[in-house]
Formats: sequence, C-alpha cells, structure tokens
Amino acid sequence: MNNFIFQNPVKILFGKGQINEIASELPAKGKIMLTYGGGSIFRNGVYDQVKEAIKGLDVIEFGGIEPNPKFETLMKAVAICQTEQVDFLLSVGGGSVLDGSKFIAAAVCFQGEDPWDILAKQAEVTNALPIGAILTLPATGSEMNGNSVVSRIETQEKLAFGSPAVMPKFSVLDPEVIFSLPDRQISNGVVDAFVHVMEQYLTYPVNSPLQDRFAEGILQTLVEEGPKVLANRKDYEAAANFMWSATMALNGLIAVGVPQDWATHMIGHELTAYHGIDHAQTLAIVLPGMMNLKRKNKKAKLLQYGERIWGITEGNNDQRIDAAIGKTIEFFEKMGIKTKLPDYGVPSDTITKIANRFQQRGFKIGEHADIGPEEVGEILRSRL
Ligand code: NZQ
Ligand code: ZN
Repeated sequence: MNNFIFQNPVKILFGKGQINEIASELPAKGKIMLTYGGGSIFRNGVYDQVKEAIKGLDVIEFGGIEPNPKFETLMKAVAICQTEQVDFLLSVGGGSVLDGSKFIAAAVCFQGEDPWDILAKQAEVTNALPIGAILTLPATGSEMNGNSVVSRIETQEKLAFGSPAVMPKFSVLDPEVIFSLPDRQISNGVVDAFVHVMEQYLTYPVNSPLQDRFAEGILQTLVEEGPKVLANRKDYEAAANFMWSATMALNGLIAVGVPQDWATHMIGHELTAYHGIDHAQTLAIVLPGMMNLKRKNKKAKLLQYGERIWGITEGNNDQRIDAAIGKTIEFFEKMGIKTKLPDYGVPSDTITKIANRFQQRGFKIGEHADIGPEEVGEILRSRL
C-alpha cells in the first residue's frame, strides 16, 4: 500500500427530514447566498423546505446555474457576492449547482487577476467562502469532496480544480429528493458513481485488500440498488443505499494508498465540452474502450473485477476480460445508458479534435501516465 494522508471534514446529515435541521449549521449572523439550478427545487418542494428551515436568516438567492455549470454564469454570482458581501453559500441542487458554488466560493476570495486561472492554470486555492450543501441528485460525490468541474462556453472547455478549501462544511443527504428525479438523472447518477469507483479501483494491485473490498462493496451495491431505484422511485431504502454509495464512491476513502486512473473522466469531459453530452453518458462511452485498450496493464484488476462483481471464473484471461467488459456494457444499458458514439450523434472528426487537444495540452493520463493523443484516438475510435 502507498503512503497517504486522509482528512475529510465534511459533516453529513443523512436521512428523511434532515433539511429541517440546517439552521444550526448556518451562521446566525452574516449574509447567505442560496444557489440553485434551473428550477427543479421549486417543483419538488425542496425550496419550500429549505426556506422554512432558514426562516429569519439573511438570505439572497442566485439561480440559473446550468448542468455542467458555466464560468460565464458563475462570474455573475461572484460579482453579486462581492457587492453584497456574502459570507456563506448554501447550494441547493445537484452536482452542477454545488460545483458551481465551489467555484464561486473560490473566485470570490481569489487574489490573482483572472479567476479562470483556477481552472486553466491550476492556480492554488487556499481560501474560499464556506459552503453548505443540500444535495438533490446523488452522482458526483461533490457533497463530500473538494472537487469542482466548470465549463466555459466561449472556448468550449470543461476543466476541473480541487482544494480542501471548497469542501462543504456540511452536506444534507435526504434520499427523498430522489423521488422527483427523472429516469435519465437516476441512470446518470448510478453510472457516474460506478465509474468513480472504477477510476480508483481498476488500476494495478498494490496489496490494498481493504480498499479493494470497499470499492467492490460500492460497485455491488450500485449493481443491486440502481435498477431498483430506476424501477420504483418511491423505494426509500433503495434510494438511501444508492445515495450513500454515490457519496462513498468519491469522498476520498477508497482512493487512499492506491493508484488512480481518471483517464475515462478526462476524455469524457471533452465529449461534454464539444457536444454537451451528459457527464455519465460520456463515461459509459469511454470506459469500455479504456478497459479494452488497457487490458494488459490492468489485467490483474480486470480479472479480479470480473470474478468478484460478475462471477466470471471460466475461460482464459482474455475471454474473462472480454466477459467483464461485456457485463459492464450490459449494466450501463440496463440502467438506460447507451455506450457508443453514434448513439449520441458524435461525428468521427470529433475524435481528431479531442486527440489534438490532448496533444496541445501535452497531457499524458491514466495511472501510468501513458495515455496520450494516440491512445485517446484509439479508445474513441473503438466506440464508433
Ligand atoms: O438545474 P435543475 O433545475 O436543478 O435540474 C437538474 C438538472 O437539470 C436536475 N435535478 C437535480 N436534482 C433534481 C433534478 N430534477 C428533479 N428532481 C431533483 N431532485 O438534474 C439535472 C442534472 O443536474 P446536475 O447537477 O447537472 O447533475 P449531476 O449531479 O450529475 O452533476 C453533473 C456535473 O458534475 C460534474 C460533472 O462533470 C457535471 O458537470 N462532476 C463533478 C464531480 C465532483 N465535483 O467531484 C465529479 C464528477 O466526475 C463530475 O465530473
Ligand atoms: Zn464523474
């Protein structure tokens, strides 16, 4: 096992009715900005619950944060925070609203000239406004990590930053918010969480049986509970298990002491940047191609994954790996997510554009930093 330092200070309020408890987590004095997305919180009653819970506090609102939050929109909130002297951000929504709020929190306190540098130049974020989150969509794990992904319309870029300074002070996980989610978002959430685990698990062995079993436990739970949530949105127990799995998939716990990949995400972000494809859909396209191309480097873990998650014990190594890739595709499709580029109308010249971007940025990704423009092209071509 590799050395590691682990600290996760996010306070989790989990379960039915926990939204009512947030007042004691918020500053009694000072100005709060409630951030939200396109309006789902007004239709599903979450807004009313939050307003009731924070009655009497000094709150302004900023709505309209898009899925795949846009830098251009977020900078409007930054300006308001500065003129209104906002002290605390309360994010009410999915991963996009929370990621957007993290960027706002960091940009408000940014000392450099252009806050875009936080994303484009990885300028260090040491200070940020404190954030609280009411999560309405289990998927990203953003509620218990310090990551944020932001897109820029002007340049068709989608970039990430991470800092402990933007980890939420608290996050409310009430599984009842799932009841109002459309099928597409349940599918996205299950697949995103599944691939988060794969990015931290499907690398090479470093003798970390505990992290492996945590990871496999999350994968198995998603495989069992995901279809239940899709079939019956009012199944509270399934919703709760799904929600906690998504949080545990990306709160740092399963990543400690092990190598990590993240190449599927890096390539997926480019598909969203160019074509606006949902984040999880891009992962379902890329991951099978990644598993196939990296079958040698990832052999031991691919075989372990096949056996422990899908019960694959027959055939030679290549046959078992093929079967593991096949089972993964089958699961994504069972969750209602298609896995090929033409399913989303992506033309083949996009592959060249994405490979060129990796060339220009000089990126080498994956746990061995051996995936460059050529491999990116190869992975994507295998998904045509
Ligand atoms: O905007 P509103 O009206 O709220 O509607 C949203 C949005 O249209 C809707 N929704 C959310 N909760 C709902 C609901 N509709 C009905 N009932 C509810 N309870 O769902 C739509 C999608 O929301 P979004 O927040 O975009 O989805 P998600 O949580 O999947 O977030 C995706 C973003 O997170 C980034 C992705 O790249 C993408 O930009 N990621 C963030 C990560 C992180 N911070 O650690 C890691 C991930 O790998 C990912 O990259
Ligand atoms: Zn993801």
